[in-house]
Amino acid sequence: MLLEVRDLHVEFRTRDGITRAVDGAGYAVDAGETLAVLGESGSGKSVTAQAVMGILDCPPGRITGGQVLFQGQDLLTLKEEQRRRIRGARMAMIFQDALSALNPVLTVGEQLGEMFVVHRGMSRKDARARAVELMDRVRIPAAAQRVRDHPHQFSGGMRQRIMIAMALALEPDLIIADEPTTALDVTVQAQVMDLLAELQREYRMGLILITHDLGVVADVADRIAVMYAGRIVESAPVHDLYKAPAHPYTRALLDSIPRLDQKGRELHAIKGLPPNLMNIPPGCAFHPRCPMARDVCRTDVPPLHEVIDDRAGGPPGGRASACHFWRECLHDRT
Ligand SMILES: Nc1ncnc2c1ncn2[C@@H]1O[C@H](COP(=O)(O)OP(=O)(O)OP(=O)(O)O)[C@@H](O)[C@H]1O
Ligand code: SF4
Ligand SMILES: [Mg+2]
Repeated sequence: MLLEVRDLHVEFRTRDGITRAVDGAGYAVDAGETLAVLGESGSGKSVTAQAVMGILDCPPGRITGGQVLFQGQDLLTLKEEQRRRIRGARMAMIFQDALSALNPVLTVGEQLGEMFVVHRGMSRKDARARAVELMDRVRIPAAAQRVRDHPHQFSGGMRQRIMIAMALALEPDLIIADEPTTALDVTVQAQVMDLLAELQREYRMGLILITHDLGVVADVADRIAVMYAGRIVESAPVHDLYKAPAHPYTRALLDSIPRLDQKGRELHAIKGLPPNLMNIPPGCAFHPRCPMARDVCRTDVPPLHEVIDDRAGGPPGGRASACHFWRECLHDRT
């Protein structure tokens, strides 16, 4: 396994109290695989990613438990210097907002080239040539001229391509893309996502794709992890999950869009509000909003059950659901 996050806990200590932003989350992604992480705003998707990358805001953030196994090594036990060497070279991150992630006073050529100068010891001249190659690779027109431009001189879509180029520069084994297309127009979103998916296949990278867009997930992901209140509540191969969700929250997410192949749809219209993370409900955190909730749900935290879909025919698909009544949910096709 390329990356395995186990039982991760992250807290934020603020004046108002302790926020349990990540509360026992775990997921895994293999080389060449795309894992989509899905969930409402505030469910802990970005904080989990930041803990994996080693860029968590500490303080106020604090990792209070768990493991982040990257190629078998627990990153949480490494010194900052060792983590810095892994970051960029072996794992890289793409953010939603390229304008604030890129340096406004340097040309894009300087920023891309810097990666090769610092990590590969290249001369400035060679590094610039590599920067142009990379810009070509992410299909920025007239790369040889535009390498001298600054980030603000590019459109949003082109800037996002530059950030993809930065992430790819050192050919990392893992890329985490946190809502990489959310800030873009719908047509540009599709182009950027197609490019990212193509590069991921070509380089055989592991990709963790954090997104609100169920259309994108269906097109590019192999597996999905659904997150709620800092935990993974369901994980499954994409098509199994779409065919028959095994958690009522997943079902509610799927029901909140009219068609799965529709792009650019946000998750919404689930009744009730996400929980206050300073005061997560006892038992199943989803129980106040769950149409299937019963007494046991209000008292007992559901463990992650292995889901076996006996009607699926094939071998067990590595599915799991944190619902006491996953079987009922899976079989309920109404
Ligand atoms: N720097 C911070 N200081 C204090 N609390 C924080 C900080 N960053 C995140 N949190 C808390 O952690 C929770 C989870 O945040 P996170 O950014 O992971 O959500 P998310 O699932 O990525 O949401 P979104 O879809 O809106 O990006 C938030 O509700 C917030 O309360
Ligand atoms: S454990 Fe209970 S409340 Fe939680 S999702 Fe399942 S049925 Fe709903
Ligand atoms: Mg986020």
